[in-house]
Amino acid sequence: MREEGLLTSAPLPDEEIAEAGLRPRRMEDFIGQAELKERLAILVEAARARSESVDHVLFSGPPGLGKTSLAGILANEMEASFKGTSGPALERPGDLAAVITNLEKGDVLFIDEIHRLPRQVEEVLYPAMEDFHLDIVVGKGPAARSIRLDLPPFTIVGATTRVGRVAPPLRDRFGYVARLDYYRPEELASIVVRSADILDVPTDTDGANAIALRSRGTPRIANRLLRRVRDYATVRSDGKVDEPTAIEALKVFEVDDLGLDKVDRSILATLVHKFSGGPVGLGTLAISVGEEPETVEDAYEPFLLQMGMLKRTPRGRVATRLAYQHLGVDVPASSQQTLLDD
Ligand SMILES: Nc1ncnc2c1ncn2[C@@H]1O[C@H](COP(=O)(O)OP(=O)(O)OP(=O)(O)O)[C@@H](O)[C@H]1O
Ligand SMILES: [Mg+2]
Repeated sequence: MREEGLLTSAPLPDEEIAEAGLRPRRMEDFIGQAELKERLAILVEAARARSESVDHVLFSGPPGLGKTSLAGILANEMEASFKGTSGPALERPGDLAAVITNLEKGDVLFIDEIHRLPRQVEEVLYPAMEDFHLDIVVGKGPAARSIRLDLPPFTIVGATTRVGRVAPPLRDRFGYVARLDYYRPEELASIVVRSADILDVPTDTDGANAIALRSRGTPRIANRLLRRVRDYATVRSDGKVDEPTAIEALKVFEVDDLGLDKVDRSILATLVHKFSGGPVGLGTLAISVGEEPETVEDAYEPFLLQMGMLKRTPRGRVATRLAYQHLGVDVPASSQQTLLDD
């Protein structure tokens, strides 16, 4: 069986329930992303002042940074009802028509993984987003005719980990495209403190910081590491989360000081040892570490890129000097040139 990396930023199986309890419901509970929050607050306040629905919003960014949470917050702040679906769930135009014709005035329709909407479904969405109407074909063959249904105004909130894969005409129909960035350690520490409070785990500042520093910029991971440290503290210590307990616990779970886990290190080690530092194609790299290419690309690579351990080149992925250093391996002479080109 493939082992799940503790630090994959995609949700682990069964993690949804644990997450639901920690999910911020109101703008003031959502920590960090200050500028984005301010823009959303303006959008919401202006729409409320005019008694209109909020313009369509698209959230993009790596997994676990709060896209779904923000969609819910937007609905709560508008006192609107929230309906959720996803790109892959809407297989045919009829699926989307069924969802959309059930919307009431002001509702928020959340479409997760919107980059995976099939093209024909997207085409139904365009007029619905733009002018709030649906063109439905009734009947078949020569008797087929198109009827136009008017819809009450509503808000589409899209989320994607791949904004580059959202078709430009779809992207253009969003009034605001918001990009979520990795969080700063002090923001993650506040998230850990908030979650520890909800979970009723005694946690001090240094303990929260130790977890924050190893959470690779991602709230989902911060919460997950907190749960693992709590387990360790319960059974191996006095139940309190302080710095030594956090560090010891994360060592047991193979999270290193930079917050890299087994899978991250295996990606770097594979590049360095099997492929002489690269370049190597994504598919080959993914197979070598036993992951799906999409998982490597969405969940692992962004952080390794951000840390400067990995580079994307036209010929494939390359390990940088930092990656060699982190693994404690000397840079081979043959790789010097590529690496110096950083
Ligand atoms: N800014 C934040 N403040 C507090 N907690 C947060 C914040 N952002 C995310 N979280 C926590 O992280 C968890 C994951 O967030 P969320 O599900 O919103 O991420 P996502 O971007 O939708 O991820 P995915 O791309 O996998 O769908 C939430 O359950 C929530 O507890
Ligand atoms: Mg989500």
